[in-house]
Amino acid sequence: MRIVYLNGDYVPRTAAKISVFDRGLLFSDAVYEVVSVIDGRLIDMERHVTRLERSLGELSINAFADWSGIARKLVAKNGLQEGLVYLQVSRGVMEDRDYRWPAPGTAPTIFAFAQSRDLIENPLAGRGMRIITRPDLRWQRCDIKTTQLLYASLMKMEAVAAGVDDVWMTEGDLVTEGTSQNAHIITRDGVLISHQLDRAILPGVTRIEALAQAKAMGLAVEERAFSIDEAKQAAEAFISSSTLLIMPVVEIDGHQIGDGRPGNLTGRIRQAYIAAVHAGPSIRG
Ligand code: PDD
Repeated sequence: MRIVYLNGDYVPRTAAKISVFDRGLLFSDAVYEVVSVIDGRLIDMERHVTRLERSLGELSINAFADWSGIARKLVAKNGLQEGLVYLQVSRGVMEDRDYRWPAPGTAPTIFAFAQSRDLIENPLAGRGMRIITRPDLRWQRCDIKTTQLLYASLMKMEAVAAGVDDVWMTEGDLVTEGTSQNAHIITRDGVLISHQLDRAILPGVTRIEALAQAKAMGLAVEERAFSIDEAKQAAEAFISSSTLLIMPVVEIDGHQIGDGRPGNLTGRIRQAYIAAVHAGPSIRG
């Protein structure tokens, strides 16, 4: 039976109930984290906690919990070997619907669940992702990991309709990020380019390790926005996220990247990432 966490209790999924006056439901007044689990261990949990606390701080949501402890217990109670833990915190429940925040002291709603999924044996790694670009019409604080995911969801459906794997979003002709991943390219001169950390993108936890592995391999890393044209001319392109890890991109708007097959350097970064995860402590759990 699947056990989920809700406000201090570990209960069967059918027993976890949330009020219709929860601000997470009515205003997407909530933040979240998705943490990957490999070999039964949480990957990079400390960095996820740091980002969660930053997101909470930016929105003045007062919530404190043993985030790692909750995630660890869920992994254990559900016998999860590979997959993810989802953790969400909303500002809590209101008396009535009101845009303004309830009085300080309102208890946040905290819930989490574990989900099984193959992260390492993913066929996408062998064939690479096909991407289309679309304008980034999200709000302008994408550095906060809120549950306002409707635009990302709409874009995922555009990808499905176009018969491709995902969407990279753009501001003018510059790529910001994927719908739920960070976007990167490697130029023909062997320079990895990745959008700088600012309000236009989520500061990805996997991105940190991807850039570190690339540097360790001797690649130069430039943190700046790249254009759609630069991406099309790149030798390689890839994405990073907790659920896809490092995944090659082989096509952008119908244009083949490199020779149209997953790039060698991308493959090496993915393998180095997976090796570090299996090795344990080098990627903080
Ligand atoms: N998404 N950018 C966006 C918009 C994201 O939603 C995510 C993660 C990332 C990558 O961040 P990280 O490497 O920390 O997972 C970048 C998660 C996986 C999701 O919403 O399911």
